[in-house]
Formats: sequence, structure tokens, C-alpha cells
Amino acid sequence: MDGRNRVVRFSVSVLVAALAAACVDSKQAVAPNSTAFSTPPSAAQGFLGYSDTAAGTPVCGNCHVGKLAEWKGTAHSHAWADLQASGHAQASCEPCHTVNANGNAVADSNVGWLATHNPRYRDVQCESCHGPGMTHVTNPDASQPLASMLVGVGLTNGCGECHQGINNPFLDEWAQSAHGLVPHAGGKAGTTQPCVTCHTGNGALVAWGLDLNYLEKDSLAATNGHMPITCAVCHDPHDATNDKQLRFPIDVASVSNNLCMKCHHYRAVPDPTSGGGPMSPQGPLLLGTAGWRSPDFGPTDTTIRGTHGSSGNPDLCVTCHVARAKVTDASGNLVLNSTGHLFVAIPCLDTQGRPTPSDTCAEPQRSFAACAASGCHGTPDAARSAFDVATQRIQALVTELNAMVAKVPASQFSTADSVTITAGEGAKFNARLGAMTGSPVHNPFLMEQLLTSSIKQLQKTYGISPTSNITLQDILAAPAGGR
Ligand code: HEC
Ligand code: HEC
Ligand code: HEC
Ligand code: HEC
Ligand code: HEC
Ligand code: HEC
Ligand code: HEC
Ligand code: HEC
Repeated sequence: MDGRNRVVRFSVSVLVAALAAACVDSKQAVAPNSTAFSTPPSAAQGFLGYSDTAAGTPVCGNCHVGKLAEWKGTAHSHAWADLQASGHAQASCEPCHTVNANGNAVADSNVGWLATHNPRYRDVQCESCHGPGMTHVTNPDASQPLASMLVGVGLTNGCGECHQGINNPFLDEWAQSAHGLVPHAGGKAGTTQPCVTCHTGNGALVAWGLDLNYLEKDSLAATNGHMPITCAVCHDPHDATNDKQLRFPIDVASVSNNLCMKCHHYRAVPDPTSGGGPMSPQGPLLLGTAGWRSPDFGPTDTTIRGTHGSSGNPDLCVTCHVARAKVTDASGNLVLNSTGHLFVAIPCLDTQGRPTPSDTCAEPQRSFAACAASGCHGTPDAARSAFDVATQRIQALVTELNAMVAKVPASQFSTADSVTITAGEGAKFNARLGAMTGSPVHNPFLMEQLLTSSIKQLQKTYGISPTSNITLQDILAAPAGGR
């Protein structure tokens, strides 16, 4: 928006405000003194809080009426009442349930509620995240209080300032997760187009068509212009239309609209222009469309959905990968109220029983608690043994297929012809899909059919025989995973 438009819009809205004292647009300006609010105590240091405490209307909401309506639907708008109703309210709780320096860039903690105990600063309001609004409200066009999208351990800004600690360790766990990596810091690719659309938080928001304005938007130089996949990439700071303020639903079977699948769907089927294997095929695999289909694959309806991708598991990825777990010590004291924000499905536990991001422990040391907590499996051990059986079956098939792929003539793997997928290329793709961590869980039924049909196709196309000591019959005769 250029300066001229801005001035015109402003003077028009001054007029509207003078006549009607109301606004209709979330960005429409009114004359500052038409936003009736009593002068805030000077000790609050520029924080305005509510203009109408009884109605729960932050000063900001008088002009940003769209944002006001959204925010009213969030838990942040009743954080104070919930604290009081808990029966455990005490002074130490208040920094996270009121407006003060938590969540914004202000360094002095003695501001807002903590400096005044004035009821206008109750709840997690706009200024909790945006910082003090006095300067902006006095002259909206001169400067705007942008909120932070970045979070990090030790950072005195953003969601993490409140969402941390043993009761709410969202920040603590997220920071150790793959989503918390500064893109590229882990040595993984993803700084170029189209890679940034999934590998960076800022790139994903743009790819999703969200033109948002935030503090770090133009200042990501320290991280090569890239932001990790932070809280407000998955969560909408203002809007609770989806449960838990998620930007997209988690319970829809759609790679284009499911929050996790929007990124977890890259190269789920072979791309004739590249020899690359699958990258993030989990969405399509769960939904039954992943993998290379040999000419006589079988069913004409090529969707083969397993239990985990069906209505039997309505929360899909989230059931297994974002599961809460309460960890207590021998005397029953809380050690950690884990939030599942490591995003690990079967985590290794540390000596205190806390989930860790490590994937180096042996399978018996992993926790299958999420599988039982979901109500799907009777006990963690029942899920564990189903996992073991499926893993063995698929690993045996992958070993067999890899040995056969090694005998396919090299000429079959040329990417010069970027139109067709040869049987060799397709089989190799399926073997790599089967070897990915998680494939035996995401869709064991589809995986077994893809692998066995690839084995048959290599026999048919190239006359290559299965090579291992175990026969296909042996593999398929093994009992399938039970509940
Ligand atoms: C008197 C009306 C008014 C009040 C009250 C008001 N704003 Fe604004 N706000 C505006 C106007 C007008 C703009 C557009 C300014 C511009 O672009 O020049 C704006 C812009 C913004 C922006 C930038 C939006 C963007 O897309 O870049 C943010 C963030 C913001 N306001 C937050 C707040 C917060 C937080 C409060 C409460 C502390 C608040 N506003 C109170 C009128 C107001
Ligand atoms: C000033 C502290 C504070 C800040 C900053 C803050 N939150 Fe919260 N948040 C809370 C509190 C307190 C609650 C619980 C409110 C309740 O249930 O009464 C909460 C609840 C939530 C919930 C639960 C919603 C639900 O429906 O159960 C989500 C999601 C959330 N916050 C996300 C965020 C995100 C994303 C950010 C940053 C953009 C953020 N919060 C910043 C304190 C904060
Ligand atoms: C470090 C910041 C912080 C402090 C301190 C804090 N809370 Fe919270 N509280 C939160 C956040 C963040 C949430 C939202 C958690 C979620 O949605 O899972 C929350 C949610 C709540 C909720 C609503 C959700 C629920 O569990 O029913 C209650 C009640 C609550 N807190 C009570 C308290 C009490 C009592 C204290 C003090 C003993 C306290 N809080 C101290 C950050 C804090
Ligand atoms: C549609 C979203 C999407 C796009 C586009 C995308 N990726 Fe990925 N990529 C992912 C996801 C999600 C993962 C994590 C999946 C996993 O670990 O199984 C991932 C994982 C990776 C990994 C790590 C694999 C491993 O085994 O650790 C590399 C390297 C990678 N991507 C490179 C790239 C490059 C280079 C590009 C651009 C040519 C790119 N990605 C484009 C979503 C995407
Ligand atoms: C929990 C933290 C949080 C709260 C509470 C919050 N905001 Fe925001 N706000 C953000 C973040 C983060 C962004 C940037 C990302 C986005 O827009 O989704 C933002 C963006 C904005 C923008 C810029 C326009 C845009 O969509 O990018 C405006 C205007 C705004 N907020 C106004 C408000 C008002 C008014 C309130 C109170 C009714 C409010 N915010 C409450 C965190 C918050
Ligand atoms: C990759 C996406 C993603 C990121 C990044 C993410 N979350 Fe979440 N978060 C989720 C999902 C999915 C759920 C819902 C879990 C469910 O429905 O059980 C959730 C749930 C929550 C809840 C509600 C928990 C409850 O049970 O009441 C809070 C609060 C929350 N997240 C805060 C945060 C904060 C703070 C951060 C950043 C430190 C963050 N999230 C980062 C996906 C994400
Ligand atoms: C904005 C895109 C995006 C969204 C949304 C997203 N992810 Fe990811 N996810 C990635 C990328 C990129 C990586 C790989 C990061 C890396 O290793 O550099 C990843 C990594 C992971 C990993 C760890 C993979 C590994 O190899 O360690 C898991 C598990 C995961 N995501 C699950 C989820 C779940 C569950 C959701 C939904 C709640 C989700 N993701 C939402 C992009 C996304
Ligand atoms: C039924 C439970 C379940 C569901 C549903 C599920 N996963 Fe998994 N996922 C697992 C298990 C178990 C693993 C293997 C983890 C391991 O070995 O560390 C895994 C592995 C992964 C990995 C590789 C992680 C790593 O550390 O290498 C990613 C990425 C992933 N899943 C993403 C997703 C996404 C995205 C969805 C939804 C499309 C999803 N998962 C659905 C259980 C599940």
C-alpha cells in the first residue's frame, strides 16, 4: 500500500469515526481519541490492555475488529478466568496469564499487570504478543507493533516465553525437534526454490498464500533468510476455527489440506525426470496412493488404505506423532508434562522416563505409549509386537527386492529419457520407500503389495529370480501383526 492511499484511507475513516464511532474493517483506522479508553497507569509503560474490561475488549480491538472477533474465540481470551477457576491461582502463575513483558520484546518485566495489578491487563491479550500499543494507537500510520514469529530457548520474545517449563514444555520439546532446526543447520538441503516451501517456516506461509506481517519478516539475514517451522507456522495466533488454533485441520484425508500432509507429501511416486527416491511420502503412503504401480499391480482402484490412514484413526498423523504423556517419579511427583512436540512417534526415553529426540536406542527401549493412549491398541506391548512383525516382513521383502534390483542392467536407470519409469526404476523406488523409517506403520498393507508386485515384475520383465534363502512364500506365510 503506498503512502498516498494510506493518507486518503485514514482521512476517510476519521470522518467515519466522527460520524459513527465504529469501524468495519480489521485495519480501518479511527481517530485515536474516538477509541474510548482511560489513560493507562504510567507504571504500565505504554501497555493499554482492555478499553472495556467487563466486555473483554482490548483497546486494539476497537479498530482491528476482525482480529478481535477471532481472538475472542481463543483460550488466550479467558486465561485469567481459567486460572482463577483452577483453585491453584497464586502470584507465580500470573506472568503467563496476563499482559506483561512475556511474549513480546520488552525486556523490563515490571510492566502491564505485574506493575499495576489493574484488571485491564488480565488475560493473554493482543499486546502480550505485539508489545505496548500506546505509540501506535496515538498515530497508527507512524508505526505498528509487529509480533514475533521466532521462538527459541533463551529468546525473550514470542510464544515460547509462556509455553515452556515442565508443565507446558512446548518450546523445550519443539526446539529439539526436526521442525525446530534452523533450516540448513542440520546440513540438509532446502534453501532454494521449491525446497523452501516446505523446509522453511517463512517459505511455507507464503506457499500457503498467507501474506502475514511479523517482526522478523525482513530480518532473517542471520539465518540466510530462513526461519524454522515455528509455533505460528502450524498455529494461527488469532484464530481458533480449527481445534488448538491450528492453521489447517489434522483430521482430513487430503494432502492439500491436512496440516502435516501439506509438507509431508514430496516425491511419494517416482519422478521420471530425476532418479531420486521418496523424500517425504508419509501423507500419500498413509492415504494409500504412494509408490510405483507395476503394470499388473492388481486392483484398478489403486488406493490401498491401511487401518492407520482410515476413519479408525481420525486424527491421522497426530495420534502417533503429537501425543501428550505425563512423566512422574517414583513418589508420583511431576517430572514432565510432555506435549508431544518432539513429533516422535515411538521415542527413546531418558533415565527419568522423559521422551527424547534421539533415534539411536534399540526398539525395546522405545515407548509405544501413544499407540495405547489413543485407545487403538490394548497395551503398548501389543502395539510393539504388531510393529515388530510388520517391520520384519517388510525388511525381508526390501532385502529380497534390493538384491534383485542390483541385477537389473544399468541402462534401465537412465534419467535421459524423462518420460517412462522402467520396471527397474519403479522397483528401486519401492524398495527405498519400504526401507524408510515408519513405512511398516504408515501403511503395511500397501507396502507389502508394492514390494511383492515389484518382485514379480522384475522376474517377468528381466527374468531375474529371487535370490535369498527365504522364499516369498515364507515371508507371506508369517503371521500379520495383530492388535
Ligand atoms: C485507532 C485505531 C487503531 C488502534 C486502536 C490500533 N490500531 Fe493497529 N493499525 C491501525 C491502522 C490504521 C493500521 C494500518 C497502518 C498503516 O499501514 O499505515 C494498523 C496497523 C497495525 C499492524 C500492522 C498490520 C500490517 O498488516 O502490517 C499491527 C500489527 C497492528 N496495527 C497492531 C495493533 C495492536 C496490537 C493494537 C493495540 C495495541 C492496535 N493495532 C491498535 C489502527 C489501529
Ligand atoms: C503471555 C503468555 C502467552 C503467550 C505469549 C502465548 N500464550 Fe498461548 N496460552 C497461554 C495460556 C495461559 C494459555 C491457556 C489459556 C487457558 O486455557 O485458559 C494458552 C493457550 C494456548 C493454546 C491452546 C488453545 C486451546 O484451544 O487449547 C494454544 C494453541 C496457544 N496458546 C498457542 C500460542 C501461540 C501459537 C503463541 C504465540 C504466537 C502463544 N500461544 C503465545 C499463554 C500464552
Ligand atoms: C510459564 C508460563 C505459565 C505459568 C507460570 C503458569 N501457566 Fe498456566 N498455562 C500456561 C500455558 C502455556 C497454558 C496452556 C497449556 C495448554 O494449552 O496445553 C496454561 C494453561 C493453564 C490452565 C488451563 C488449561 C488447563 O490445564 O486446564 C490453567 C487452569 C492454568 N494454566 C493454571 C495455572 C496455575 C494454577 C499456575 C500457577 C500455579 C499457572 N497456570 C502458571 C502457562 C503458564
Ligand atoms: C512438499 C514439501 C517438500 C518440498 C517441496 C521439499 N521437501 Fe525435502 N523434505 C520434506 C519433508 C516433510 C521432509 C522430512 C521427511 C522425512 O524425514 O521423512 C524432507 C526431508 C528432506 C531431506 C532429508 C532426508 C533425510 O533422510 O534426512 C532432504 C535432504 C531434503 N528434504 C531436501 C530437499 C530438497 C533439496 C528440496 C528441493 C529440491 C526439497 N527437499 C523439497 C518436504 C519437502
Ligand atoms: C498469541 C500471540 C498473539 C496475540 C494474542 C495476538 N496476535 Fe496479532 N499477530 C501475532 C503474530 C505471531 C502475527 C504474525 C503472524 C500472523 O499474522 O498470523 C500477528 C499478526 C497481526 C497483525 C498483522 C496482520 C497479519 O495478519 O499479518 C495484526 C493487525 C494483528 N496481529 C493484530 C492483533 C490484534 C488486534 C490482536 C488482539 C485482538 C492480536 N493481534 C492478538 C501474534 C498475536
Ligand atoms: C508442526 C506443527 C506444529 C508446530 C511447529 C507446533 N505445534 Fe503445537 N500443536 C500441533 C498439533 C498438531 C497440535 C494438536 C495436538 C492434538 O490435537 O492433540 C498442537 C497442540 C498445541 C497446543 C495445545 C495442547 C493441548 O493439548 O491443549 C499448544 C498450547 C501448542 N500446540 C503450542 C505450541 C507452541 C508454543 C509451539 C512452538 C514452541 C508449537 N505448538 C509448535 C502442531 C504444531
Ligand atoms: C511447513 C512444513 C511442515 C509441516 C506443516 C509439518 N512438517 Fe514435519 N517436517 C518438515 C520438514 C521440512 C522436516 C525435515 C526437517 C529436517 O530434517 O531438516 C520435517 C520433519 C518431521 C519429522 C522428523 C523426521 C526425521 O527424519 O526425523 C516428523 C516425525 C514430522 N516432521 C512429523 C510431522 C507432523 C506429525 C506434522 C503435523 C503435525 C508435521 N510434521 C508438519 C516439514 C513440515
Ligand atoms: C499409527 C501411528 C503413525 C501414524 C498414523 C503416522 N506415523 Fe509416522 N511414524 C510412526 C512410527 C512408529 C515411525 C517410526 C519411528 C522410528 O522408527 O523412529 C514413524 C516415522 C515417521 C517419520 C520418520 C521419522 C524418523 O524419525 O525417521 C516421519 C517423517 C513421519 N513418520 C511422519 C508422519 C506423517 C506426516 C504422518 C501422517 C501423514 C504419519 N507419520 C503418520 C507412526 C505413525
